[in-house]
Amino acid sequence: MAFVEPGVTAEVVDAVRSGFRNAFGRVADVVGRAPGRVNLIGEHTDYNAGLCLPVALPHATCAAVARRDDDRVRIASGQEPRPWEGDLGSIGPGHPAGWASYAAGVLWALREGGHDVPGLDIYVDGTVPLGAGLSSSAALECSVAVAVAHLVGLEPTDAVLRELAAACVRAETEVAGAPTGGMDQTVSLFARPHCALLIDFDEHTSRSVELDLAPAGLSLLVTDTRVAHALSDGSYAARRTDCEQAAAWLGVASLRHADLDGVERIDDERIRRRARHVVSEISRVGLAVAAIEAADWAQVGRLFEQSHASMRDDFEISCPELDTAVSTAVDAGAVGARMTGGGFGGSSVAVVTEERVDAVVRAIDARFAAQGFRSPRHLRAVPSAAAGVVLR
Ligand code: GLA
Repeated sequence: MAFVEPGVTAEVVDAVRSGFRNAFGRVADVVGRAPGRVNLIGEHTDYNAGLCLPVALPHATCAAVARRDDDRVRIASGQEPRPWEGDLGSIGPGHPAGWASYAAGVLWALREGGHDVPGLDIYVDGTVPLGAGLSSSAALECSVAVAVAHLVGLEPTDAVLRELAAACVRAETEVAGAPTGGMDQTVSLFARPHCALLIDFDEHTSRSVELDLAPAGLSLLVTDTRVAHALSDGSYAARRTDCEQAAAWLGVASLRHADLDGVERIDDERIRRRARHVVSEISRVGLAVAAIEAADWAQVGRLFEQSHASMRDDFEISCPELDTAVSTAVDAGAVGARMTGGGFGGSSVAVVTEERVDAVVRAIDARFAAQGFRSPRHLRAVPSAAAGVVLR
């Protein structure tokens, strides 16, 4: 069975170091490494001050970085044909455009936060599939953030990691122009192996939730539908605006402070459905944590099903490929499945008993072929560690 492999960290790091040498003819000072993520449950809740429960993937992005003694910034990637080069002072909202904005934006946000960021050469590469809804952009931001933090002498304390997460969010929302909510950067910087991360965006706290999958004979299977998803194309922002309108209608600071009775009184039908998704999804996160802690996987499966239906019908962020991946996984014996991430394409996540993984993958591949969809890609989401620097 062919899965998208995370690669061996030492080999990926070596490849990034040699990519850096080829691009810039010098040796990198440090390599930052940051994982992509898959969210178990709690979708479009982060920007509503809600709860979510992501897991860091073993697939990560690496950024090899070296100081320069002028104010130039050069950014190259093993996955993008065109490097970017410019002055530190030229980086800001809307500039540069394209993939380099996620890396350059972090430098800008750290400078805005008062850090003395020098000119830099940066080379990035990694194994997080691009455009699959698995947070390749947050992995890119966080890999640059931890590397640069190391170069400017910041110790990775909780407070510093929180500051880096905020800088990465600013890079994404203000420089790259994707109005996302903070889940991806938080899990990339705070995840622990064998755990999911319960993030509370009202309290601004997070805690690890042990995910004892292996003793239960379970795996997390991620299926990338290959339907390109872009968070900057307006549909994500439109959902955010709907949620803000719902909160305003209800007279609450955020949908975290709304209840379903109130939501049912919203007179606009679309806004009501959007709010119903967010409010019910936040309560499903709490229920899922309790079920995971009780090893009640059947209940986790039911919550996945409800979550998917809510995203499909009320929030309207699914697509035929995601619906097919989810229903086929369940038909082929998955304990539960749902779409994950921002939606409009991207990936699904399924909890599957180890011995059913191959059957589920084959069933999804066959159903996609029969429907004339692009061939999907699959990966195993082994809950992995947060970002860090690799010194050598
Ligand atoms: C994207 C965003 C996150 C979050 C999810 C939906 O991944 O980057 O902030 O809003 O969508 O849960």
